[in-house]
This record gives sequence, C-alpha cells and structure tokens, in this order.
Amino acid sequence: NRPVSIHDIQAFKDRGEKFAMLTAYDYSAAQILDEAGVPLLLVGDSLGMVVLGYDSTVQVTMEEMLHHTKAVRRGATRALVVGDMPFGSYHGSEDDAVVNAVRFLKEAGANAVKLEGPRVDLTRRLVEAGIPVMGHLGLTPQAVNQLGGFKVQGREEAAAEKLVADALALQAAGAFCLVLEAVPSDLGARVTEALDIPTIGIGAGADTDGQVLVFHDFLGLTSGRLPRFVKQYTTLRGEIVSAAKAFQAEVASSDYPGPEHQY
Ligand code: KIV
Ligand code: NA
Repeated sequence: NRPVSIHDIQAFKDRGEKFAMLTAYDYSAAQILDEAGVPLLLVGDSLGMVVLGYDSTVQVTMEEMLHHTKAVRRGATRALVVGDMPFGSYHGSEDDAVVNAVRFLKEAGANAVKLEGPRVDLTRRLVEAGIPVMGHLGLTPQAVNQLGGFKVQGREEAAAEKLVADALALQAAGAFCLVLEAVPSDLGARVTEALDIPTIGIGAGADTDGQVLVFHDFLGLTSGRLPRFVKQYTTLRGEIVSAAKAFQAEVASSDYPGPEHQY
C-alpha cells in the first residue's frame, strides 16, 4: 500500500494495463476514491465549474486551487495527487510559473502539476526543478475564449499532425503523462501509439492508456446537458434529492429523530 509514484503510472503503460484517474476537490471524496484504489487523483480546475459555480475555468485562482488541493492531500494517503495549474498562474514569466508550481507541491502536498497546451519550455524547466508535469492537449478549456466554445479538437489533418508533434515535444521535455481531451478516437489512438509515456483520455476514444472523468459527472451529480464522453456510473443527484425530501418529511411528521437517535 505504498504511495503511487509517477513510475507506477509509467508501469501501467509498459504492462499494457489501462488505468483510471478521477478528479477530486475535497477531503471526503479523496478518502473514498483512495479507498476504491484509484491511483491518480486530479484536483482539476473544473473545480471552478462543478464546485464553485463559475461559468468557465478561467476565473479559478491559485488560492482556490491550493485550498482544495490541501484537502484532497489530507484524504489521499496512497493516490498520486495532481494539482491543475489555473489560468494565469503559468502564463506570465517562467519564474512566476515555477514559483506557482512549487506552491502546489510545497504548500498543498501535490505530487505533480498539470499544464494546458504545448508548454514545452516550461515543462522542461519544471521537470528540471523536480516537479513532475502532466501535459494536457486537445480541448484545453482555459483557452475557451480563443477556441470559441467547448468543441472537439484535431479533426483536420493539419491540426492532428500539430497535436502529435506537440505531444512528442512534451514527452521530450519530460512530461510523465498526457491528458487528451475531446479529440477524435483515431487521433487518441495515434498519439497513444506515438508516445512512450501514458495518455489519459477524456473524450479521446477507447485506445488511450488511461481514462479520466470529473467526479460530479461520473457520479451523476451534475445537472443539465452533459458531453458525449460522460458516463454516469450512478445517479447520486436523484438519490440526494430523495434523501433530502425524506428527511424533511420525517422532520415534519416528527418521525425523526426516533427514540434510537436521542440521548
Ligand atoms: O479540470 C479538470 O477536471 C481536467 C480534466 C477533465 C482532465 O482538466
Ligand atoms: Na482542468
């Protein structure tokens, strides 16, 4: 039951074993997912949308990310915890980006950070500083204002070729794995085949080495229209509504608390 390291993540690919990552944003969720044996927990900046109620990930701050990463670290004793660097925290000078990445490890106890886009030089610099880096290509939600919405990326051959080249460059810079978001399945397969490091897909088809889902999505806690790649493994939102209604009804009828709940 020793803690998961980046070498264990590489070993999944080397053995041809597929693996799962989930997002987590708090202590209790991290404890539960750790208990379930999930090897990789991402404190995603999706936090902004699913936990904080922002309409994109662009607003999320370093302080918010650190606050939640600390909570996840307290809950996860075994899983490898990855902190998602928020928009703006690695878009100024490289020195500032290093300082921010260091905060995830030093203050919040993360084991690695994730960066969106082909940030090749910065990845090399962080890896040299001893900070494991997870890359993220394809749909990179922090660039939503530039992409013009949440759309599948890499459909054109030129874009697909650029993505493969970017993936290889991130690998050469020392990234330990790569998230591929919302790309055609054949491109997910192509990148996975081209790389020695593991790929982790979200809407990137069945051939990536790993798969990641957002906590609130896979548990059925989210409401409204969901992306095609989401599979709900349970429907907790409905369960919670039913439980909250049952509690209210029992309070109203004085059935709760019963004798067994009283001192
Ligand atoms: O923020 C997030 O949850 C992510 C994953 C979807 C990869 O970046
Ligand atoms: Na993210």
